[in-house]
Amino acid sequence: MKTYNLDETHIIQLEEKNRKIALSTDDLHVWYGDNEAIKGVSLQFEENKITSLIGPSGCGKSTYLRSLNRMNDEIDGTNITGKIMYENTDVNSKIVDVYEMRKHIGMVFQRPNPFSKSIYGNITFALKQHGIKDKKQLDEIVETSLKQAALWDQVKDDLNKSALALSGGQQQRLCIARAIAMKPDVLLLDEPASALDPISTSKVEETLINLKEDYTIIIVTHNMQQASRISDYTAFFYMGQVMEYDKTRKIFTRPKIQATDDYVSGHFG
Ligand SMILES: Nc1ncnc2c1ncn2[C@@H]1O[C@H](COP(=O)(O)OP(=O)(O)O)[C@@H](O)[C@H]1O
Ligand SMILES: [Mg+2]
Repeated sequence: MKTYNLDETHIIQLEEKNRKIALSTDDLHVWYGDNEAIKGVSLQFEENKITSLIGPSGCGKSTYLRSLNRMNDEIDGTNITGKIMYENTDVNSKIVDVYEMRKHIGMVFQRPNPFSKSIYGNITFALKQHGIKDKKQLDEIVETSLKQAALWDQVKDDLNKSALALSGGQQQRLCIARAIAMKPDVLLLDEPASALDPISTSKVEETLINLKEDYTIIIVTHNMQQASRISDYTAFFYMGQVMEYDKTRKIFTRPKIQATDDYVSGHFG
């Protein structure tokens, strides 16, 4: 078992490169009781780009991602310190309306989790809760969301069919459609293709590449080919901290940190 120097890190600062930053964290720490799962992570995410979070299992990727739209609030015993800046607001501030904030920062989970409703009902559920009642407007949002998620052609004649009758890959694209129906700025995805077969996986990847025109995407993936195929930036997490953050191309061809090099080349640990 190799040991790595945890003090040696390489993290690019996007503001120094005049990039537009959609979301950032500053010295973010997350504890589950006594277990400090995230140990001071500061990252900036560029607007309309895809950023991958990679690293060995248990290193804190999901914890970090969930904290970005306060999904950790739902877990007992969590304590989060540091800033999560989105449009001059600290998402982590107690006064933030979490429900409202999640319209801007949406999330798609590892396992497709459609509601047991029709395809149409899945996409319109949250919209209706947010007061959109006009049938024509709802129809339009359903169509554009399903088109953006590359699912429209397959389901346009079956919108009243149960979402649970769709294949796993289709269900996951429906969950993406459901998330983007709210027109978030930032879309968080936690290993969205890990439960899918290779063909569905490549469809989800194509979908994400198309979506980045309109959204800032942050995706956790354990699949390094996937990270290198779809993302502009990659952050390598290890033991609750980020060891290296750079353009994906650099992370996969010329990493600056030994732990990253070992991880991306399959010689880790
Ligand atoms: N819901 C939870 N309650 C308590 N501890 C958790 C919870 N989720 C994750 N952890 C702990 O936080 C650490 C990071 O886990 P996680 O964020 O799931 O890592 P990753 O997604 O990189 O596999 C681990 O030590 C894990 O046991
Ligand atoms: Mg995880």
